[in-house]
Amino acid sequence: MLNSTVSRAPSSEENRVSSAVLSVRHLVKDFALGHALKSETMRAVNDVSFDLNRGEALAIVGESGSGKSTGARILSRIYRQTSGEVRFKGQLLEDFIAKHGELEYARQVQMIFQDPFGSLNPVHTIYHHIARPLLIHGRANKADVPAKVYQLLELVGLTPVAETAEKYPHELSGGQRQRVAIARAIAVDPEVILADEPISMLDVSVRLGILNLMSDLKDKMGISFMYITHDIATARYFAEKTAVMYVGHMVEWGDSDSVTQTPQHPYSQLLLSAVPKVGNGGRRALAVKKGEIPLWHAESVGCPFVGRCPRATSTCQETMPDVTQLSETHFARCHHL
Ligand SMILES: Nc1ncnc2c1ncn2[C@@H]1O[C@H](COP(=O)(O)OP(=O)(O)O)[C@@H](O)[C@H]1O
Ligand SMILES: [Mg+2]
Repeated sequence: MLNSTVSRAPSSEENRVSSAVLSVRHLVKDFALGHALKSETMRAVNDVSFDLNRGEALAIVGESGSGKSTGARILSRIYRQTSGEVRFKGQLLEDFIAKHGELEYARQVQMIFQDPFGSLNPVHTIYHHIARPLLIHGRANKADVPAKVYQLLELVGLTPVAETAEKYPHELSGGQRQRVAIARAIAVDPEVILADEPISMLDVSVRLGILNLMSDLKDKMGISFMYITHDIATARYFAEKTAVMYVGHMVEWGDSDSVTQTPQHPYSQLLLSAVPKVGNGGRRALAVKKGEIPLWHAESVGCPFVGRCPRATSTCQETMPDVTQLSETHFARCHHL
């Protein structure tokens, strides 16, 4: 996609970089609002396009409700998109699944959730959690399973391995449980891991360890990560590319250094200003209005950030901004750029 992982929204026919493992084009997801008599919908994801390259991490950054999890759930087949296309290793997702099956796609595209306790079964040992996917996906013969489980526990830093294997989820710390979830994900040799806020429920002291573990797996195993977070600082730390989402829209994207160090969209600037800085006693003042976060509909017009933007004009109220290319690897949607 124009030689960058996260780039301007191109037409589906524009050149695809072969290193893209997952490509998303013009993704839209509407949800019914649940009124008994009206068929009203809200648009949780609107015209989202990006490429996730092999062995790279793409951070999706935004506040709660910006559509990050909905995007990940479409990629993991929990939801179906309203429109737009997803390609896996160059093939339309529907074609890949028709050819190889849901189970094979689920093997290759794994998900890690925010709450490691919720994603583990309290009645089963750690051994069971890791052995099960190995058997379901035929990744080890029965006789080889114990050695493979121990090898995976070692790889994610859960030692001594034999002792850990016998434990139950409640006997581990939050960070250790997330390591089990990671071991389970990599057990089946995936191409992609969709990590939905994988550290936000963990103790601050163990967050860096989990990010470093994912970084190692990315570099050593060539796994691509979609890293969902509301923390722009960890996006810069972990991911090569970053996309900032607001109310279902990608408002700024590109190489992480540019997006997180010299953000150009007022919303990205707001996120960055909320990051505590050493020496300034905490947070910088926000030059952004409090404003309502809009409920987006198919018929909505204008820039989604208009209600909170200090630079909003009547044009911003009326027209969705086009994509502005700020550098070879940096893009944003704002009328003032
Ligand atoms: N299953 C659902 N049914 C209806 N609305 C949903 C559903 N899932 C998410 N939404 C709505 O879609 C929007 C985006 O949600 P989500 O993707 O969870 O955001 P994020 O992960 O960025 O916090 C929110 O307004 C949320 O209420
Ligand atoms: Mg979420």
